[in-house]
Amino acid sequence: MAEIRLRKATIEDSSDLFSWRNDPVTRAMSRDTGPISRESHEVWYKRALADPKKSILIGENEEDQIGMVRFDYQDSPRTAEININLNPAMRGRGYGQTLLNESCEYAFSHLGIERIYAEIKPSNLPSIKIFERRGFKYLPSDKGSMLRLELVKEN
Ligand SMILES: CC(C)(COP(=O)(O)OP(=O)(O)OC[C@H]1O[C@@H](n2cnc3c(N)ncnc32)[C@H](O)[C@@H]1OP(=O)(O)O)[C@@H](O)C(=O)NCCC(=O)NCCS
Repeated sequence: MAEIRLRKATIEDSSDLFSWRNDPVTRAMSRDTGPISRESHEVWYKRALADPKKSILIGENEEDQIGMVRFDYQDSPRTAEININLNPAMRGRGYGQTLLNESCEYAFSHLGIERIYAEIKPSNLPSIKIFERRGFKYLPSDKGSMLRLELVKEN
């Protein structure tokens, strides 16, 4: 499969991120499953772009916008929670694995992150598969029904 180029998200990506975020599968797999209004997305997105505790990346190739990955830095140093969302038109073709793999490498090499944390719904089988295959390991689950996984940078 062709490689995906990663770049930082900009304000021009707002419409794409809004439509990908409101996709029904994305909503169903999110912690908060309700639809999001355009207005609240715009407010959230402007704040998120300016927030030093977030990094939002876009994966793309020559033709298409493939998807987004967001790292939310946690209180403990060098730890971030990952959230991945593919453009719905790009799902089911293996791009999720490539985007996850490349984003983890980017986080370790460019963002100073040493531990990546993920929370996944047990029903989200494609997501579980790509995280396990990248080498994420399970943590004890203490947050209701969410699976908790982590990937630690190798020295
Ligand atoms: C999760 C997501 C990133 C996966 O990316 P994708 O490229 O669409 O993934 P694929 O459809 O290629 O599936 C990944 C793997 O799971 C398998 N899979 C898909 N649906 C499955 C199912 N219902 N049962 C078992 N395996 C399944 C696929 O066959 C594939 O395995 P393979 O590579 O061995 O063939 C993407 O679907 C997405 O953006 N979902 C919405 C947001 C989300 O759930 N984010 C994760 C929360 S962090």
